Amino acid sequence: MISFEQFELIGDTKVGVLPQQVNQLEMCREIAAAKDLEENDSSFMLVDLDKIIERFELWKRELPMIEPFYAVKCNTDLVLIRILASLGCGFDCASREEIDIVMGTGVSADRLIYANPCKTRSFITHAMERDVRMMTFDNSEELLKIARLHPNAEMILRIAVSDPTATCPLNLKFGADPVLAGPQLLKLASEEGVSVVGISFHVGSGCNDASAYRNALQHAKNLCEIGEGLGFKMDIIDMGGGFPGAEHHNPFEKIAETIRDALDEFFPETEKRLIAEPGRFFAAGPFSLCANIIHATEVPATKITKDQKDCGDHGYMYYINDGVYGSFNCIMFDHAHPVGAPLFDVGRNEKYISTIWGPTCDSLDLVEDKKLMAKMEIGEWLYYPDMGAYTLAAGTTFNGFAKPIPMYVMSEELWGTIKDSSHISF
Ligand SMILES: Cc1ncc(COP(=O)(O)O)c(C=O)c1O
Repeated sequence: MISFEQFELIGDTKVGVLPQQVNQLEMCREIAAAKDLEENDSSFMLVDLDKIIERFELWKRELPMIEPFYAVKCNTDLVLIRILASLGCGFDCASREEIDIVMGTGVSADRLIYANPCKTRSFITHAMERDVRMMTFDNSEELLKIARLHPNAEMILRIAVSDPTATCPLNLKFGADPVLAGPQLLKLASEEGVSVVGISFHVGSGCNDASAYRNALQHAKNLCEIGEGLGFKMDIIDMGGGFPGAEHHNPFEKIAETIRDALDEFFPETEKRLIAEPGRFFAAGPFSLCANIIHATEVPATKITKDQKDCGDHGYMYYINDGVYGSFNCIMFDHAHPVGAPLFDVGRNEKYISTIWGPTCDSLDLVEDKKLMAKMEIGEWLYYPDMGAYTLAAGTTFNGFAKPIPMYVMSEELWGTIKDSSHISF
């Protein structure tokens, strides 16, 4: 396997240190070439830790007034969590296990928000025992559970304000109506003696229309005034997730500008604590997947497409060693359309209609369909960038196919920046 001159330990994970900035594609090529020499065809996930810092710096540049609480559900990789923790990031956890994962790295309870509006009762008790106080709710039954189980809880009312065009809208399941139910829930909280400290929303994962944030902030302002009228402090605004992870037609900078303008309009010179729960924003870009072609077979083009225009008479079906039951579960659960490319320049220019299947015996295990690609050979590699969000977190080993092996890399410069972090020790 590739020999790094220097390794560092983050937790108990070995991280390869490079003298220069990480180039993900080049690094993947080096690793794949080394694996080829050993006839090792297992898939791997390159994890570029410099990229995490880059994203964190981008956040701080565009939205310096908003504290990010990374949504752990997106990817529970411990090194990713430790790097974010070392930078001072907070964490959004949605279950007992996520709370324990994050606190197991040394993060203190006051840097967590338990952002699941419908919580398991024993998990609420667990949160109380670990002194996690900040948590969301959007219904009266949850308030009654909290009143009984967690007297120290600091509740944040989640309202439903949605970008209906988001890749994964969430408001069918969560969020109180900001006009009708919101004020009623604040009143009930006051009657039950439950402390409410703010308002939260999630406009939908993969937001396409930034005006949803403005809309939500306007509702948040009204509800803060109602809550203050009931005697609550209302000093937290939680703007949820929805921020893009990779290049997107609605870039992060545009969303950030809309949010800054809306904050100026509805919360000018506010002393409130502003937070958000970005998931894919941090997790997508640092992870690149390299999958090996374990089988390739020539087929008539009509087996792949009925529309034979420009397709020639034959095409190829490829079988790779990661699929929909593994990292590519994002195709099912996250409406993702991953696009792979040959890892190396294969030097063959002619393109054929191709299908890329995952390795299992299920025909639902389809990674890419009707793709034009150079002819590939068994044993060659495909490269999929931006594979860190909602991929490994829900992947299985169905049919006995292993998940890709993570390989962590960072530059010397990054290690210099984080190793003496005052927020966490490695
Ligand atoms: C409550 C909550 N916060 C944050 C997130 C993260 O969203 P995103 O990955 O779009 O940033 C999610 C995703 O489902 C969520 O449910």
